[in-house]
Amino acid sequence: MKKLCVVLDEREVEDNPFKPQMWRIVRRYPLTYDTNFYQARPVDPDEALRFSYIPGQFAMISIVGEGEAPFCLSSSPTRPGMLEFCIRNVGTLTGSLAGLKENQTIGVRGPYGNGFPMEKMEGKDIMIVAGGMGAAPLRSVLLNILDDRDKFGELTYLHGARAPGDMLFREEFLQLKQRDDLRVLMSVDKDDTGKWTEKVGVVTTLFNDVGPIDVKNTYALVCGPPVMYKFVMQNLVKMGIPKHQILMTLERRMKCGVGKCGHCAIEYLYTCIDGPVFSWWDVLHMKELIGRGASDTTVA
Ligand SMILES: Cc1cc2nc3c(=O)[nH]c(=O)nc-3n(C[C@H](O)[C@H](O)[C@H](O)COP(=O)(O)OP(=O)(O)OC[C@H]3O[C@@H](n4cnc5c(N)ncnc54)[C@H](O)[C@@H]3O)c2cc1C
Ligand code: FES
Repeated sequence: MKKLCVVLDEREVEDNPFKPQMWRIVRRYPLTYDTNFYQARPVDPDEALRFSYIPGQFAMISIVGEGEAPFCLSSSPTRPGMLEFCIRNVGTLTGSLAGLKENQTIGVRGPYGNGFPMEKMEGKDIMIVAGGMGAAPLRSVLLNILDDRDKFGELTYLHGARAPGDMLFREEFLQLKQRDDLRVLMSVDKDDTGKWTEKVGVVTTLFNDVGPIDVKNTYALVCGPPVMYKFVMQNLVKMGIPKHQILMTLERRMKCGVGKCGHCAIEYLYTCIDGPVFSWWDVLHMKELIGRGASDTTVA
């Protein structure tokens, strides 16, 4: 009888979708004054094989006694065995994560969500538009494409931030400008340093420098603050990129991450399993996805 109980307990734990695996932080450093970069490796090496993901997916990260929340994967699946996150310190859990040191552990469960359709995008030109924290998920797709460069067509990366000190991965992206297999355009709303050598202006000013693109063959991937979507979408649709080829990753309050609690529901969609990646076509047919203000554009 005792043996049976042990077997049931083990099975229960194995089937438990809420059980996190422990990952060790191997690198952690500040990206901006309030956002940290974390690189983690699994404590159990088998977890490195199990945790396979695609760009645009997210993981639930926890610290015992502090809580759990969703965070985008910023690393590329082409570099297995480690995960990278950018986390802005806004509250209880993120404050505790900001206090962690290298070698300490976090709970990770996932990957969750739909992610970007990487196979469908093969052979296509890709334009990525990142604003602020939007660089966190889009860095994953950018690195994936750079690692699999032959599988994709022209690659353009547009990145906007409020000021140079707010720009995530600023040096990493500036270095990419030296490569000749992608075009990197960067802007800040305001240069408060006097040393910024790239464009000054909101991210949409970068569209003036994009040049001719093969719109029917292009996928545009967008992530940024809600206010950015309206203006970026106007530009992309005016360019002629089909609405189903404009993809964006959206944030919603989440609890379980696996379609059980209903916290992230919008009409008949659960953003944790049907998203967080949606097409502009989806958004136009379900305006609550990013709020009426953001999707209320004259270009639809
Ligand atoms: C799919 C997805 C991916 C995400 N990826 C990232 C990421 O890569 N990096 C990152 O820094 N954050 C990301 N977030 C947001 C992150 O989950 C929240 O910032 C986190 O829950 C904050 O936890 P906390 O305990 O520190 O904050 P709390 O103490 O719970 O809250 C602090 C303050 O932030 C507000 N807040 C908390 N969560 C949200 C939210 N989701 N939307 C709006 N306001 C909120 C609260 O109302 C409160 O005012 C993502 C969210 C989702 C849904
Ligand atoms: S977060 Fe629970 S259903 Fe989506």
